[in-house]
Amino acid sequence: RLLSCPGTVAAALGTEEQSSGSAETGSEDGAPKKRFSEVQKERREQAQRTVLIHCPNKISEKKFLKYLSQHGSINNHFFYESFGLYAVVEFSQKESVASLQKVTRTPSLGTEAAIPFRSRYFNLKLKTPLNQTSEQSSIQCRNQSSPSSKKLFELLCCAESVDDQLNTLLREFQLTEENTKLRYLTCSLIEDVAAAYFPDCTVRPFGSSVNSFGKLGCDLDMFLDLDEIEKFGTHKASGNFLMEFQVKNVPSERIATQKILSVIGECLEHFGPGCVGVQKILNARCPLVRFSHQASGFQCDLTANNRIALKSSELLYIYGALDSRVRALVFSIRCWARAHSLTSSIPGAWITNFSLTVMVIFFLQRRSPPILPTLDYLKTLADAEDKCLIEGHNCTFVRDFNRIKPSGNAETLELLLKEFFEYFGNFAFNKNSINIRQGREQNKPESSPLHIQNPFETSLNISKNVSQSQLQKFIDLARESAWILHQEDKDRLSPSNNQPWGLAALLLPSVANSMSLAKKKKKTSSERIKNLLESIKSSSTENSTATNG
Ligand code: GTP
Ligand code: MG
Repeated sequence: RLLSCPGTVAAALGTEEQSSGSAETGSEDGAPKKRFSEVQKERREQAQRTVLIHCPNKISEKKFLKYLSQHGSINNHFFYESFGLYAVVEFSQKESVASLQKVTRTPSLGTEAAIPFRSRYFNLKLKTPLNQTSEQSSIQCRNQSSPSSKKLFELLCCAESVDDQLNTLLREFQLTEENTKLRYLTCSLIEDVAAAYFPDCTVRPFGSSVNSFGKLGCDLDMFLDLDEIEKFGTHKASGNFLMEFQVKNVPSERIATQKILSVIGECLEHFGPGCVGVQKILNARCPLVRFSHQASGFQCDLTANNRIALKSSELLYIYGALDSRVRALVFSIRCWARAHSLTSSIPGAWITNFSLTVMVIFFLQRRSPPILPTLDYLKTLADAEDKCLIEGHNCTFVRDFNRIKPSGNAETLELLLKEFFEYFGNFAFNKNSINIRQGREQNKPESSPLHIQNPFETSLNISKNVSQSQLQKFIDLARESAWILHQEDKDRLSPSNNQPWGLAALLLPSVANSMSLAKKKKKTSSERIKNLLESIKSSSTENSTATNG
């Protein structure tokens, strides 16, 4: 199945998004995974002992480490490139950071003036340039971006099976250890800025940076958590007294969030080292501040008062950890959707990656036997400590993996991929809603083209934005992809020709969509594929019955 990669194919694999970023929380060897809260706590603490340094392009790694070790021992370090050379250095002790800050000066800039903000993001200068020959060692940089379309295509075509293709795609796109560290460090640096107003605040990553479905280059969602502050003083009232802070009141929680994000947005814009392009999007359903963190290359979305989203991330993390097929399938479906422009980095009527992930989870709950349990079942396994109520919504589910029995289903990824496309190619979207809480279709409570129940705020639809035409495009592509995989099954015994196959073939431009832009014709072709697929299936069932017989 070796094959050279045609140029059109490489161009079709639009896997752009932004380049950089990564981090994987799971272990690939099947060892028990850590609880979500444990991972968050450890990584956060690690990030607080870590600094980010912009380095000269030519530097001696040995001398650099020796110089920094004056401030304390170094646990870990790595370099990466992003418009210059950067080092991420993790000290063993938090005190080392303070010691380094003590000997660091604010630059004098000649005609411009510096805002003297003392952060953990530094600029290293050499007093005299390095002697080129003797001291310059080559620095190994850790890659922070996803593979090029061409490279991915080559890897997929060289794989041994469709299962191998899906696992290869996962391996190449998942966040690396270094990228994860960089994500937690970036949150920690933003927390330092926010702490100017709220000294005990926490800035937590959520979404695909932590839910185990993040692809290298995905955005960094973070939220400003002020509730932790409340917990510190858990009303240890003695006697008859109870102390409260004098505060300003505003008419609603939403207005409070907007005011807080507004000042933090200002702060990031004016004082945040490396924060550029700050936009305050405060009138959105979920108010946010969007900016680029130049040094890490991350596109960041900072929200506040968003605990339910963090809980959703934890739920996806658990689903991703329960069975090794889940992440492989989700990554491939996300890439497939991106390659066909079903998803986009621009908000609009498109399906989101979050919705796609929930659709895959639902599909895996519908297998026989199920590969994933329903959310209601995870709730029944919860103990008192797992209880969680956020803004009146019951967000309780078991968080200990050991209490969830593994699935007895042994279906291959190849089969699941094919069945996924068939299942959603034929799903009654016009009357049914996707519901992972109960793991079965429900009647749609409202008329949005695509209805996926929000797992925690159950009266909401997470795909309310999706238009009928985008849904139809998804259905057409799903049918076409099922068709391609079935055709390959049929041709399997014929000698391998020099054609892209399996997952690689699915990432090519769609035949149905490119054949004609005329709506009618597209519909005809989609219907035709559906009918053809059904006839192939019924004849192959007959054949297998005949053979077995
Ligand atoms: P990518 O950024 O596309 O890689 O995936 P993501 O999962 O991070 O999605 P996104 O950045 O759009 O959103 C971040 C998180 O916010 C998601 O993981 C969800 O937990 C939550 N979220 C996103 N969209 C919705 C929605 O429509 N409803 C609800 N309740 N939560 C959402
Ligand atoms: Mg995201």
